Amino acid sequence: MIKSIEQLDIAGKRLFVRVDFNVPLDKNTGKVKDDARIRAALPTIQYAVGRGARVILASHLGRPDGKVVPEMSLEPAGAVLSRLLGRDVIFADDCVGDGVRKLVGELREGQVLLLENLRFRPEEEANDDEFSRELAALADVYVDDAFGTVHRAHASTVGMVKYVAAKGAGFLVSSELKHLQPLLKGAAKPYVAILGGAKVSDKIKVIDQLITKVDALLIGGAMAYTFLQARGVAVGSSRVEKDKIDLARRVLEKSRADLLLPVDHVVAAEPKGGIPTQVVENIPQGQLGLDIGPKTREQYARRVREARTVFWNGPMGMFEVREYAAGTRAVAEALVEATRKGTQTVVGGGDSAAAIAEFGLADKVTHVSTGGGASLEFLEGRELPGVKVLEERA
Ligand code: 3PG
Repeated sequence: MIKSIEQLDIAGKRLFVRVDFNVPLDKNTGKVKDDARIRAALPTIQYAVGRGARVILASHLGRPDGKVVPEMSLEPAGAVLSRLLGRDVIFADDCVGDGVRKLVGELREGQVLLLENLRFRPEEEANDDEFSRELAALADVYVDDAFGTVHRAHASTVGMVKYVAAKGAGFLVSSELKHLQPLLKGAAKPYVAILGGAKVSDKIKVIDQLITKVDALLIGGAMAYTFLQARGVAVGSSRVEKDKIDLARRVLEKSRADLLLPVDHVVAAEPKGGIPTQVVENIPQGQLGLDIGPKTREQYARRVREARTVFWNGPMGMFEVREYAAGTRAVAEALVEATRKGTQTVVGGGDSAAAIAEFGLADKVTHVSTGGGASLEFLEGRELPGVKVLEERA
């Protein structure tokens, strides 16, 4: 059992909330480019403020490898949070030490303090015990609302938890688990999964899980060419992972689910925009597949429309380039249509979340995960250390 923040006594307490403010920053201005992850943590922060907790927020940003990298400071994220909350957010220039202890000691009820990037210290990723104790000493209650980071066993997600008297999950972590759990057990049928992206190797474990659960698995993106090759279909000069063809063949042979591969493609001579493209069923030598074609789009959209549960992870083509975005857009639109008819539609984090946000459709599906790696590891059936540590013995 995992306690929700609502079951914890937080009034007047020093409440440590691990958030995932790992947001993209603009290289030139240093400003936050996409604040979705900050917005996703707002319900928990607002609730904590409303209950009169003394709120301490901690996160990582990027991979500074244990060194202070000023371009990876959380200060811009703090500015965005302050604007969204409509109140001051105190910023600490470190995550542990005397200065931080003083700021925490001075926090009044309902005030919010944001600590500097946890990964400026090597002890965070090393899950160092001394550092975990130092973080824990700042708090009376621990809440994890950083779904994007629950697959990491770091000091702020795992190490410190045992040293804090009370623990639980924030609204984001609870909501992510509520939407992802049925995808592994008890999904309404027909259940359809759409997987795309570049590499078979990134998705193979998820594919292995999903083929035992779904009614149909629709494959797109560059990894589709490795599967097509495994089926003996010529793919021209498309990108194929030669060392994964056998693996793909084994998946095709053992799948109990319908496994659909693209039947037509948008191809070009190079993976870039601004050059001639064509739609083909058989990819000629010298051309490579960069998106699913119109027949495939229609076929995949129909399977999505007929489903009662849909999980989507990974783009259908090189969607960042206008000429190759139609396949990914068609899948996103089919999810929106299915959602309107009552289908549960869940989008994994990472590229597909970025794509659906770019199309302006993110709020028209049941759930878009904030965790790229975390949602994939969850669907692989793996235990997430940041979730396990929150469990209380019954
Ligand atoms: C993410 O962006 O997926 C999370 O914030 C985790 O970041 P990491 O892959 O650097 O651990």
